[in-house]
Amino acid sequence: MIGRLNHVAIAVKDLAAATALYRDTLGAKVSQPLPQPEHGVTVVFVELPNTKVELLEPLGADSPVGKFIERNPDGGIHHICYEVDDIIAARDRLKETGARVLGNGEPRIGAHGKPVIFLHPKDFTGTLVELEQA
Ligand code: CO
Repeated sequence: MIGRLNHVAIAVKDLAAATALYRDTLGAKVSQPLPQPEHGVTVVFVELPNTKVELLEPLGADSPVGKFIERNPDGGIHHICYEVDDIIAARDRLKETGARVLGNGEPRIGAHGKPVIFLHPKDFTGTLVELEQA
């Protein structure tokens, strides 16, 4: 069911420092910071030949990434995103297995303008999983 790895998202406390690390130390191509207030983050996209890394810095008081940074002050992998051909079919299949879809269970528009859902980390080996319509 899942297809390509769309991105790995890494929560960071200092986006400028993390961007410099990826650009200067690791030699990666990085985007300008993109504030996404509706998701409570500012994002920098790290473009790799086969996938992307997204550096997420908390934005606003009740950012979900802010809570993650409180628990993980050094930052860390926040979620991993796989592509699916049909987000509704994928959601329904997962719900049948008992997997928990976060929020109200309906896909919402994610960081790339495509429908996404998030799956409970306790159901997926301790990892928050995002599924994005391909
Ligand atoms: Co994501």
